[in-house]
Amino acid sequence: MTLLRVRGFDVCKGYLEPARQAVLIEALRPVLKAAPLFSPKVRGGGQMSVRMTSAGQFGWYSDGSGYRYAEQHPKGQKWPAIPEAVLDIWRDLTGLERQPECCLLNYYGEGARMGLHQDKDEADFSFPVVSISLGDDGLFRIGNRTRGGRTESVWLNSGDVVVMGGEARLAYHGVDRIRFKSSRLLPKGGRINLTLRVVT
Ligand code: SIN
Ligand code: MN
Repeated sequence: MTLLRVRGFDVCKGYLEPARQAVLIEALRPVLKAAPLFSPKVRGGGQMSVRMTSAGQFGWYSDGSGYRYAEQHPKGQKWPAIPEAVLDIWRDLTGLERQPECCLLNYYGEGARMGLHQDKDEADFSFPVVSISLGDDGLFRIGNRTRGGRTESVWLNSGDVVVMGGEARLAYHGVDRIRFKSSRLLPKGGRINLTLRVVT
């Protein structure tokens, strides 16, 4: 593992070895079965290119009227529990007593991207967000705490884990593109990003 610090983002390169990445994918299968991926709408009505779902007490949800955390999948069922193998990463890296209440799962298929945004739907920004990358490489862009200004980009590869805490917690960030089929972790290609969040 190599620790890169980019504008307060702790980028743990190669944090998860391939065997552990495969264990995580197995642990996510039942989550995806219980809470299938959906395509959230953005404000204004367009559709995000990323598909998503969640595990935990809360899931992140977006429709035409805005962004929020919801206690149910859009189909009406409760979100499945966050797998222990995922929680272990949170515990290892943050050492916190408090456990995350949401594990947002973003799936980037070919051509998917995520515009620059802040994670600010949570109640307490003193808790970090932990982001786990699995599958294809993603070009992660890091901006500032306000819109605009210079940005810096870093490729996130399968097994990299980023901790966004402190000054980085409210920084703009996004994913410009992925290198589709650059990894063989997911048989059909694509990138999974998990973000662990304390919500309340
Ligand atoms: C996110 O900001 O929700 C996702 C970041 C990523 O895909 O690396
Ligand atoms: Mn985010």
